Amino acid sequence: MKLNHIISARQFDRKTLQKIFALTNKIKTQKFQRNALSGKIMATLFYEPSTRTRLSFESAMMRLDGSVIATENAGEFSSAAKGETLEDTIRVVNSYTDVIVLRHPKPGASEIAAKFSKIPIINAGDGEGEHPTQAILDLYTIFSKIKRPSFTVAMVGDLKYGRTIHSLSYFLSLYSKVKTIFISPKQLAIPHYLRQDLSQKKVTFQETENFNEALKKSDVIYMTRIQKERFKDEKSYQKYFGKYILDKKTIQQMKNQAVIMHPLPRINEISHEVDTDRRAIYFEQAQNGLYVRMALLLLLFDKVKFQTS
Ligand code: CP
Repeated sequence: MKLNHIISARQFDRKTLQKIFALTNKIKTQKFQRNALSGKIMATLFYEPSTRTRLSFESAMMRLDGSVIATENAGEFSSAAKGETLEDTIRVVNSYTDVIVLRHPKPGASEIAAKFSKIPIINAGDGEGEHPTQAILDLYTIFSKIKRPSFTVAMVGDLKYGRTIHSLSYFLSLYSKVKTIFISPKQLAIPHYLRQDLSQKKVTFQETENFNEALKKSDVIYMTRIQKERFKDEKSYQKYFGKYILDKKTIQQMKNQAVIMHPLPRINEISHEVDTDRRAIYFEQAQNGLYVRMALLLLLFDKVKFQTS
């Protein structure tokens, strides 16, 4: 199996995801070639802030004996600040590195970058568009906890701007027995294109504002933050801030075997007192990001030296 650019969840089918997960399991149990990416260089071009995505990709590359060059605030500290276009930046960085991990505020930026790139581009979040590698690690984490084909995933919060939601919804739509409940204020509901896409695929999904009802019947509670940076002003943001909060009281309504996930960072949507609940798996989820991204890099560089299924 050979991956080229990673731009959208739509590139992946169930078979490819299974191979990525099998490889991730091997990596997690330390069964990987430690110098597999020796001599390779990865550039991380981040025009928006990040903790998990950038650092886990960089760690993944280094753990495989590759090297990293980085610009973490590319809008300010790269020549974008002087007016250089993304296209020109990508063309130039192509000659310095072997793979580019790109986070950019504009939806579609990674797709544009891929058109100008001879080396793989990995979409690390394109504005309110997609975040495919986050959704791969989310799905890996879900399947590591839930071993049956039928289950219900509740996605909660800012579903309009939440790019992880857009990618994860697509992945879940590949599994016909998985039901999805979208919980958000009407103004922050899933984008129209996604609703149409799910309807066309005959995916079982429900949209509601009723958090408590969804908590009772879901097996995965996937919380998201209200994406402050996407609102035009503080007042519009404050209208939704704090709308859905998981705390000691609200988690009592959840099933005993349900799990609580969050792509992080969280602001106030999961109270810190929930962290010690055995159903809270968001830090394990973030850790899986390292293993999944190691697997993706190995596949991108065609370096898998063992059977993945
Ligand atoms: N989940 C996620 O994308 O986190 P960062 O913004 O810290 O990379």
